[in-house]
Amino acid sequence: MTSKKTEKLLKIAATQDIREGQSVKFEIARKDRKTEAFVIKKNGKYYSYLNLCRHWSVGLDFDDNDFFSEDKAWLVCKNHGAIYEPVTGICEGGPCGGAALYRVPVIEKEGILYADVPRIDWGEV
Ligand code: FES
Repeated sequence: MTSKKTEKLLKIAATQDIREGQSVKFEIARKDRKTEAFVIKKNGKYYSYLNLCRHWSVGLDFDDNDFFSEDKAWLVCKNHGAIYEPVTGICEGGPCGGAALYRVPVIEKEGILYADVPRIDWGEV
């Protein structure tokens, strides 16, 4: 019996193109739709989340790829001002009720960052 292992890594970007305190958006194809996600670099590490606020399940940015607060300390939902801690994704203020952003596990290989699609916790989205 042969074991057929399919690697489902989705290329996001070259790590050199993901700068500290900035974000890169990408889409994840699903059976019936595409879901937007974004990756950030904070203190030299990469963190990625679905672009879905835990308040209303809509994008945090206004399609302008601008997720950070002015001082780069928080991820901010522009709809009603929910704030999330960039490293944990946990809601620390506003109408998101302490829920965390849906994390997208990432893997770095030879200077490229990939989303580990099978390990995404889709929650109820
Ligand atoms: S949709 Fe994000 S705070 Fe309301």
